[in-house]
Amino acid sequence: MNRIRIEAGAPYDVLVGDGLLGEAGARMKELLPPCRAVLVTDSNVAPLYAAGVEASMTEAGFTVTRYVFPAGEASKTMETLTGILTALASTGLTRSDLVVALGGGVTGDMAGLAAALYLRGVRYVQLPTTLLAAVDSSVGGKTAIDFAGRKNLVGAFYQPGLVLCDPGTFQTLSPEIIRDGLSESIKYGVICDEALFARFESDPAPDMTEIVTRCVEIKGDIVAQDEHDTGLRQLLNFGHTPGHAIEACSHYGISHGHAVAIGMLLMARAATAAGICKDDTARRLETVLRKTGLPTVAPYAPAQLAAAALADKKRRGGSITLVVPKQMGACVLHTVPVAELERFFASGMEVRA
Ligand code: GLY
Repeated sequence: MNRIRIEAGAPYDVLVGDGLLGEAGARMKELLPPCRAVLVTDSNVAPLYAAGVEASMTEAGFTVTRYVFPAGEASKTMETLTGILTALASTGLTRSDLVVALGGGVTGDMAGLAAALYLRGVRYVQLPTTLLAAVDSSVGGKTAIDFAGRKNLVGAFYQPGLVLCDPGTFQTLSPEIIRDGLSESIKYGVICDEALFARFESDPAPDMTEIVTRCVEIKGDIVAQDEHDTGLRQLLNFGHTPGHAIEACSHYGISHGHAVAIGMLLMARAATAAGICKDDTARRLETVLRKTGLPTVAPYAPAQLAAAALADKKRRGGSITLVVPKQMGACVLHTVPVAELERFFASGMEVRA
């Protein structure tokens, strides 16, 4: 088992290792004395892991109530948040009690937001069961729901007290969901760790505990320096500006990790065309994405992508900040005027010999 300390305003540990779900109760007891807990999970994950986590927590002395909502992004709403908050209130949770998020990013984001709001903040523990949640959303304290037709519009920065990642849970994921997580994992290599990227080039089946551990180390490092996303943390958005635009244009038919894969390659090519990236990052990235079974071509025109990107919340005044590679393992922030975004995207979509 690996332990990564996240030095946020309220520091906490991320533990990564096979079998951790079965030890959940004992691990939580190291964080706080046994108390009441509401286990928030979705209709896909509940039948797989909820009973095991509850048994482990009960054995450790916790009194657990389960709250299950329908699986899927469509549940990431004020209604579901109200449902979770109602469950916390009707269970009589106090400030010394606990919320536990068991599942993927939707579950973690919503249970975390409920924990931030209820009684102005109760402790919560993240038990990510997807690779994507393990390497990204369960760490760093971003919590949110979708609102007014926009993703993650209403939320809070609220760090968990503990994250337990059991890579054994990835075995029940579909290949498509695994690829979503691999896309985000490859991203960490491009933004700041060439050695991690090289593992994806050379190792056909990288060890998931090692991959998650390295990604969480990188994310933890960045979060420690910029918890509230005012500068450095934006590096984690490599590929996300075009990626979010692709998701939106597809009406979310193209999943997050797949859209980010296309977005990363687009940005790497655009950075090369602009002379910002001096090495063969784009070529290497394309090879790894293809080998992983991820898409590389945006099925929308640059104008469509630019319009969708500019409707997103990351625009600031007359410019937009993008993340581009200077070389493999080193990304930088690059601001372009809004009027030039379409041209910048187009330069990343031109087919070169
Ligand atoms: N998912 C990007 C971040 O946590 O900042």
